[in-house]
Amino acid sequence: MEKEKKVLYSGMQATGLLTIGNYIGALKNWVNLNEEYDCFFGVMDLHSLTVRQNPAEFRKAARRIYTQYVAAGLDPEKNCIYFQSHVPAHTQLGWVLDCFTYMGELNRMTQFKDKSAKHADNINAGLFTYPSLMAADILLYQADVVPIGADQKQHLEICRDIAERMNNIYGDIFTIPEGYFPKIGAKIMSLAEPTKKMSKSDENVNATIYLVDDKDTIIRKFKKAVTDSEAQVRYDVENKPGVSNLMEIYGIVTEKSMDAIEKEFEGKGYGDFKLAVGEAVADALEPMHKRYAEFEQDKSYIDKCIKDNAEKASYYANKTLRKVYKKLGLNEMIR
Ligand code: TRP
Repeated sequence: MEKEKKVLYSGMQATGLLTIGNYIGALKNWVNLNEEYDCFFGVMDLHSLTVRQNPAEFRKAARRIYTQYVAAGLDPEKNCIYFQSHVPAHTQLGWVLDCFTYMGELNRMTQFKDKSAKHADNINAGLFTYPSLMAADILLYQADVVPIGADQKQHLEICRDIAERMNNIYGDIFTIPEGYFPKIGAKIMSLAEPTKKMSKSDENVNATIYLVDDKDTIIRKFKKAVTDSEAQVRYDVENKPGVSNLMEIYGIVTEKSMDAIEKEFEGKGYGDFKLAVGEAVADALEPMHKRYAEFEQDKSYIDKCIKDNAEKASYYANKTLRKVYKKLGLNEMIR
């Protein structure tokens, strides 16, 4: 098939609770990408096995992430959203790429070093070869562009190196992917330590607004958000990181400028401001909550999307896998 649109591939770990940081920084910006690209979004459950998971919680978390993507507006009929484990070609190509990836390359990965330090009791081989499985994810779909956060740049680099290495030996097998860094997309900071990025793995639940939080919880958390003693709503990231972060969040969900926000809260205290931010965020998340609840009520729609998209993903992935096997000189199956 001739490629009409460019292919875009991204994935997310299948564990944890998505935050408004994930929503504002990524998800919200992905909703319209399918107009320009053929989009694949994997829920990377095999990658999540590099850390020990509680099976029941893991199963739920992965499904929740899938459903939240759809609830947030990513159309599963226009985007291929699927579970990595449903497409065996990922592990099949992953093995092949392992054989073209050097120990020295993997040893340099900062995420491997960080995670080894964090999980010193479980430094497994999967953690080490995580990047070659990630390369398989991307290369299977012949992706042109890969939206990623800064922390994944090194993994994309190794993916390109592996692809180029194999292309040099076997002729054109893979499209060489580029990183994709959207122009907009603010970085949302922790509510408790506003100089730190909001993270879905923060131990302090008040630091983070989760997409599943209800209105009361959201307002309560914003009320507790760390600010300063100036009692003036003014945008100044350097000296007022807490207030500035709240202003950014408010600005994004209400589409107001920083100037407009300063005017709106002139002469008012932080109490009023925080309440307004909390209410605006809760209102912005409400449609997603509604849709999420509907999908939970009747699971058949999401079930169908999961199944159809696994088939669709498999179709493209297997095409690449067959090509790779053939180029490598593996005997074809006799049917
Ligand atoms: N490693 C990515 C992360 O931790 C998740 C991921 C796995 C991914 N495979 C991918 C991202 C392929 C982009 C493309 O966030």
